[in-house]
Amino acid sequence: MVLADAGLTPPTWDTRILASDIDTDCLAQTENGVYPIDRVTPVPADLLKRYFLRGTGRHGAEVRMRPELRALLTVRRINLAEATWPIRARFHVIFCRNALIYFDRAMQKAVLERLVSFPEPGGLLFLGHAESVFGLGAGRRRAAQRRERGRPHRRAAVRPPRPQLLQLGALGRSRQQRAPGDGDRRPA
Ligand SMILES: C[S@@+](CC[C@H](N)C(=O)[O-])C[C@H]1O[C@@H](n2cnc3c(N)ncnc32)[C@H](O)[C@@H]1O
Repeated sequence: MVLADAGLTPPTWDTRILASDIDTDCLAQTENGVYPIDRVTPVPADLLKRYFLRGTGRHGAEVRMRPELRALLTVRRINLAEATWPIRARFHVIFCRNALIYFDRAMQKAVLERLVSFPEPGGLLFLGHAESVFGLGAGRRRAAQRRERGRPHRRAAVRPPRPQLLQLGALGRSRQQRAPGDGDRRPA
């Protein structure tokens, strides 16, 4: 909804969303795109109207995601705790909200380090409110080094990112190269 609302799903673009979880019930619900109406009450009414269809008859207490939104989604079971994930694509934005809370510190670090290897340069990783990237040194260095590949290595000047939004694009650039406001953006 957010992508569509921001005009980032024009028919000429190949906009796709990979939705993953370990829980197959949760994935099945995403696959169907049908939700009890009380689960979507926090969604602003105009978004609901634009991107969901209201059920009728015995489905009157449900909403269904509109097919054009559903068409953007690929649903896949991924266990974040496994050593490899069946993902080859790169992403412009990753949302990993409130999933790290299930892991101990070592696993959180391992998962975060793997997560930062997936965004495109300049991509964004959103974490949950209570989650932090504290101690993510190795992953950030690797992300920075990937951007440097093919160029003489120099140490990336990295400002500590704000905890809830790690802007990967700023990692491989020096302070001079960084655009004003880089690393300072917050989700709307
Ligand atoms: C608290 S919910 C957060 C859901 C959603 N991201 C949000 O912010 O509303 C945590 C989700 O993490 C999933 N989860 C737990 N352990 C996981 C794992 N090892 N791999 C992938 N997902 C996991 C749970 O099934 C659950 O759907």
